[in-house]
Amino acid sequence: MDLAHAVDVEIDHVCGGVCACATCHVYVTQGLSTCPGATDNEEDMLDTARAVTPESRLSCQCVPDGTTDVVVVIPAWNKNMVKEGH
Ligand code: FES
Repeated sequence: MDLAHAVDVEIDHVCGGVCACATCHVYVTQGLSTCPGATDNEEDMLDTARAVTPESRLSCQCVPDGTTDVVVVIPAWNKNMVKEGH
């Protein structure tokens, strides 16, 4: 999530990045192998997210190691429409 914000890609994060909301749910479609496995806490919170797939991660918890590019898809329902001006 911090990496996305650094390049002006907004990802909603209601709990502020403490693994307590799952609003930062994303799909890591490329480079997932460069991310450490999800912790039990992340897995538990992902259980509360919508449309979870094997590519699902909480972006506030998933930090790639930087050895390759990572492609992330932000689910449309996780975009904060008010914040984005729609
Ligand atoms: S911002 Fe709340 S779990 Fe990631």
